[in-house]
Order: sequence, then structure tokens, then C-alpha cells
Amino acid sequence: MNTRRSMVAGNWKMYGSGAANAALVDGLRQGLAGLGAAAGAVDTLVCPPFVYLAAVAGRLADSGIALGAQNLCAETGQGAYTGEVAGEMLREVGCSHVIVGHSERRALYAESDEIIARKYAAALATGLTPILCVGETLAERDGDQTSAVVARQLDALIAHCGVAALGRGLVAYEPVWAIGTGRTATPAQAQEVHAFIRGRIAAHDAIIAGSLRVLYGGSVKAGNARELFAMPDVDGGLVGGASLKAEEFVAIVAAAAV
Ligand code: 13P
Repeated sequence: MNTRRSMVAGNWKMYGSGAANAALVDGLRQGLAGLGAAAGAVDTLVCPPFVYLAAVAGRLADSGIALGAQNLCAETGQGAYTGEVAGEMLREVGCSHVIVGHSERRALYAESDEIIARKYAAALATGLTPILCVGETLAERDGDQTSAVVARQLDALIAHCGVAALGRGLVAYEPVWAIGTGRTATPAQAQEVHAFIRGRIAAHDAIIAGSLRVLYGGSVKAGNARELFAMPDVDGGLVGGASLKAEEFVAIVAAAAV
């Protein structure tokens, strides 16, 4: 038994509209209220696209559901960075968290371990809690490279930000082959990598490793959440597709409350 609080976070990716988001948030509020005290045992977070953050923040008021962004600029403050959004701006519109280094950003937007570490540092510098995503591709898993890839991703962060920075954020293990594919890691596969992540960090600082929350992401649904979250080193989930359906997301939160 550990004392880490579970978190269930929804990454809405590039989905939604003003009307759809309003309906989703209202459904979440109603569904989570229906869980009663159980909902209070889990931290919940939604991460809409940038342009909807302010509206969703308003709709979430007093719900206990936190707001996060999916990305941020590696530079802080203001500046000539066309198309970028600074951590301070995310804070101003109500974000407490930000996802950093999602595999879609690594693969489709060529984000390197170094830029991701700089974004993580920018999040901390602006008062945001970063959620660092790590994970291997199918080819890397098949090539027995899972540990090496995850170690490289973590080591780059620690080299740039220092291990103490991990004490102020979360890590999400998201095997790329399980994202949006319907193919979830088995609980044993997830546990193995989560334990590896914790061990890698423990080599630097056992206290930080012990209190760090490591979320699992990749085709989490109401039907598989409970067995994943039952693993000793799985502290909740980072949910994509299923976070767009209020009923599914609420059921996943309920699974984390057990
Ligand atoms: P899916 O839950 O749709 O597989 O997405 C996972 C993910 O990428 C969350 O960040």
C-alpha cells in the first residue's frame, strides 16, 4: 500500500468544439458528483486544446476538476514566438498542469528530449505542474529497447532539470503502440515499466521516487482501468479517447478510487 493519491487526467487532443466541450464538462460534473465521496479520493484533470482553455475553466468553476494544457512554449515570459503559448499565459487562464513530451509531439513535431526538458523547466518556472510523458514505440519494444528508451527520456530530463524537478511533477508512461490503437498494455507490462521508472529515479533520490505519481496512458477505458490501477506502481491514468465521453471518464475515475 502506498500513500500516493491517484490521478485521472483527460487529454482531449485536437478534439472538441465550444458546444461539445460544454456538454462534456457538464456531464463530468454531474457524473463525478454522482460518485460522492469516492470522487474526492482521486485528482481529476482535463486538458482541452489551447483555444478552449478559458471557456472550459469557467465551466469547471468549483467542480474540483483541474485544468491543464497539452503543451507550452519552452520560453517563458513574452516574446516574438509566433504560434507559441507561454506558461504564464496558461496560468492566467486557469491551468494548474501541463502535458510535456507527449509521443505525438515527439513524433509529429520533432520534439527532442532536450526541448522537452526545457518545456518541463518552463512549466515549473511558471508555477505549472508538468506531466512528463515517456514511452517506447512498437519497434523499440519488439527490439527489446523499452528500458533503454524510457531511461534515455528520463535521464535527459534529470540531466537538464535535476532530479528534484521530478518531485514537482508527474510522469506518464504511454507506450506508443497502445495509444489510440485499442491495444492496451497488460497490467503486468505496465507495472514492469512503472517499476523501472521508479527505480531509475530512486537511483538518484529514493524519496522523490517513492512519492512520484506515475500514470499509465494508452487505450485506458472503463473496462480495463481497474486492473491497470490495481498495479502497485500505477497511480492513475492519462486518458485520450475515453476522456471525451463523460460516462467513460467518470467510470475510470471510479476505478481509480477503489
Ligand atoms: P488513448 O487513450 O486514446 O489511447 O490516448 C492515450 C494518450 O495519448 C493520452 O495522452
